[in-house]
Amino acid sequence: MITKIIKVDQNNIDDSLTSLIEASNIIKSGGLVVFPTETVYGLGADGTNKEAAKKIFKAKGRPSDNPLIIHIAKPSEAEKYTYTSKLYYKLAEAFMPGPLTVIMQSKKLIPEATRASLPTVAVRCPENKIARKLIELSGVPIAAPSANLSGSPSPTSVSHVIDDMQGRVEMIIDGGDCDFGLESTIVKIEDGEALTLLRPGRITPEELSEFASINIAPSVIDKLKEGEIALSPGMKYRHYAPKAPLILIDGNAMALIKYIKDLNDDSIAVISYEEDDSYFKKELPSARIYNIGSREDERAHAHNLFRILRDADKYNYDKIFAPLPSKNGIGLALYNRMIRAAAHTIIKL
Ligand code: TXA
Ligand code: MG
Repeated sequence: MITKIIKVDQNNIDDSLTSLIEASNIIKSGGLVVFPTETVYGLGADGTNKEAAKKIFKAKGRPSDNPLIIHIAKPSEAEKYTYTSKLYYKLAEAFMPGPLTVIMQSKKLIPEATRASLPTVAVRCPENKIARKLIELSGVPIAAPSANLSGSPSPTSVSHVIDDMQGRVEMIIDGGDCDFGLESTIVKIEDGEALTLLRPGRITPEELSEFASINIAPSVIDKLKEGEIALSPGMKYRHYAPKAPLILIDGNAMALIKYIKDLNDDSIAVISYEEDDSYFKKELPSARIYNIGSREDERAHAHNLFRILRDADKYNYDKIFAPLPSKNGIGLALYNRMIRAAAHTIIKL
């Protein structure tokens, strides 16, 4: 398949209307279009068309028991596809459009292929204007997982999308780098009232708890136990995993430098805070040092993490070391992605 790549400026989408109409025609006719969102790039198809949904699973190499999120242009459109509640509208008013995905009981219009035969469906109204215009022009909800091949980090820039999806989709919309860089927060509304957090993201548990009681699913932080069923099917799969083993360090730069020197291995990468960057470079001249941003700037860490993991994959390092994030605020989203990428390997120094 030949993949057409078009460039759209989020701040001037009217200049690209013809291209976006072309993209929406692909969606309407059951094809695949990769589009930017404020979190990561999405691999989109008509969420009401089961054949189109199946193409998504095929293009990504995704197991068919892992359901898709449907993307809508306006929060009220959720009414057509799900049984909403007062709590949904409160969340919508506070956080939509934005990086919050809400799981509710599905109506029949969403085929089983899209929701992996679950009785529920995940709904999200993205903040990115290109994404919303594409949904609006298509006239259908767009089912979209992250636009990476199954198992690799989600794409946050068009070059990542091209690496994974060229030749597998009809069109890629280049909207520049994704603003946040980690996937949306996912909550499930239980009995119309309480929330379960299934995946942390930019919208934090602290913010959500102003609207309802919130229970954090154990798999957000811990390893699934043998035989335990994941509340969100995606949580059981190995995710965001770089080829080299990633090791999270609970300790300071000095201790890590000593640890690495003792390894006597010259194929090492270190993900470091900006403040420690020159110290690592001086002490470990043969290691590759990635700067993830200033120590307290978790927005920068979120923005840079997947780009760094993808880059590190190109060099076959023996080991990658990274600082263990906090579990507060958006730190929880970083913690959740990084412990999974590290297969829960944490070394206390
Ligand atoms: O930011 C995002 O959410 C991005 C952009 C493209 O919108 N999308 C995304 O989709 O991250 P995906 O498919 O990579 O991750 C969706 C997660 C999966 O872990 C899936 O198992 C879970 O949501 N999920 C979807 N529907 C669900 C449902 N009905 N019940 C429980 N979990 C669900
Ligand atoms: Mg994904």
